Amino acid sequence: MKNLFVITLMLTGSLTFGQNDVVIIPKPVSLEMHSGNFNLNSKTTVITNKSAEHVADMLNVYLKKLYGFTLPIKNISPSKNIKNAIILALLKPDERKKDEYNLSVKASEINISGISNEALFYGVQTLLQLLPPEKPTDGNVSFEIPQLVINDYPRFQYRGMHLDVGRHFFDVDFVKKYIDLLAYQKYNTFHWHLTEDQGWRIEIKKYPRLTSVGAYRNGTIIGHHPGTGNDDTREGGFYTQEQIKEIVKYAQDRYITIIPEIEMPGHASAAIAAYPELSCFPNEPTAISDKTPWSGSREGKQVQQTWGVFPDVFCPSEYTFTFLENVLDEVIALFPSKYIHIGGDECPKDYWKRSEFCQKLIKDKNLKDEHGLQSYFIQRIEKYLNSKGRSIIGWDEILEGGLAPNATVMSWRGEKGGIEAAKQHHDVIMTPTTYCYLDYSQTKNDDSLTIGGFLPLDKVYNYEPIPKELDASEARYILGAQGNVWTEYMANPQKVEYMIFPRISALSEVVWSPKDSKDWNTFSSELPGMYKRYDFWGISYFKK
Ligand code: ACM
Repeated sequence: MKNLFVITLMLTGSLTFGQNDVVIIPKPVSLEMHSGNFNLNSKTTVITNKSAEHVADMLNVYLKKLYGFTLPIKNISPSKNIKNAIILALLKPDERKKDEYNLSVKASEINISGISNEALFYGVQTLLQLLPPEKPTDGNVSFEIPQLVINDYPRFQYRGMHLDVGRHFFDVDFVKKYIDLLAYQKYNTFHWHLTEDQGWRIEIKKYPRLTSVGAYRNGTIIGHHPGTGNDDTREGGFYTQEQIKEIVKYAQDRYITIIPEIEMPGHASAAIAAYPELSCFPNEPTAISDKTPWSGSREGKQVQQTWGVFPDVFCPSEYTFTFLENVLDEVIALFPSKYIHIGGDECPKDYWKRSEFCQKLIKDKNLKDEHGLQSYFIQRIEKYLNSKGRSIIGWDEILEGGLAPNATVMSWRGEKGGIEAAKQHHDVIMTPTTYCYLDYSQTKNDDSLTIGGFLPLDKVYNYEPIPKELDASEARYILGAQGNVWTEYMANPQKVEYMIFPRISALSEVVWSPKDSKDWNTFSSELPGMYKRYDFWGISYFKK
């Protein structure tokens, strides 16, 4: 095959992408290979109707980014004797699913059809993976694309990837690259974890100290928690509202919804450092153990420099609720997503237990205990967001003390929370640590610092998001699954890429491809083809 490839290249000067080289991730529902090729060259025209022009433009955006050329776009009805064209056909609604596309490659034309632009965009992503993973060296575009017929649609409506920009800040360029990497693999949701103990990353005009104070820490522990020292380097950054609008638009252009996460009531150290009144004990300095390697002052409220779960959390006071409502007003104005993620995880109750104010509130509101108080907190925020036409997602701790009436649960501490929420007829997104935590080590002999755990590629690939404990009527509450990327031990974009690839590709098949067509042997045999594509995308990745 290799020799044949070289011979073809010599004879035609074209980049031939043979049938054996076809690796489409995630695997389509059906793929039928035919003999012969379509030659894509600089004279190939993209034909589309006006309403699908955006998708044609996006094809050119990617051709330019990846190969350095664009194709002419024409708004005409395709005639019978069309030649050398890529036809993007937006069809009238019929029995097809909203995001289902058909792609056929014939000698004279490539035809991508569907009933929504989103569907056509998925077809374009597949087409891009049918092009060779290398640029033409002489600048002369001539790609041989194998003839084939594909029918394809996703298994789950929610196909998510998360990124924690609180532990380490990632700039606008990397966030856009991350969104492209999601789009290539037909993910449709980016869960942007924007606030943390170690950094608040979103500009809020009403509360400028959130970013002037809360977006920076004086240093970071060195090595694995609890750390061997402190790097004594100021770390941080934030996204301005203008940058957020730009990123939201960038994602929309790629049919990706961004769900912002504003953490509450826990993981709030950075916000409290900026506005100490948010704490039940505004005058107490942040509790920092003598053993914690620390940079700079230990006085007053501090942005955290180490990892973990911290007891100084939002006080459920009127001051806090007004603050959060004002913050959420600005968040809502920036993000059109139906969902706002409000966190809810890992909220120690120590400060609430010793706060007279909290104990009185528990009594006055007739709550059972501090878990009841957490439930009161989340339900109040849910009511506020519902009144603005939005819905909340929370980590599975929001089940404790009673679930807010319309909440969607993100099940992370295993599958139990997801099972319980689905049985209560609440929507669920599965992100169990055991299968979906892409910050866990990929190999037992780890070659870099990670948070720990062990989550090899095959385990991600073989994950089944619908727990067997659910019957069919309950299973429909499982909207899909998501990979989580906590960045305590990822200080730069290369490390993020290295940690997520190739596991993000495995997870894309979990959420997109039909359950019955999944096959680990096939997937692993395609890894060399995927590596070539990753190289072409210009990313770091873990190689088995
Ligand atoms: C989480 O990993 N604390 C949601």
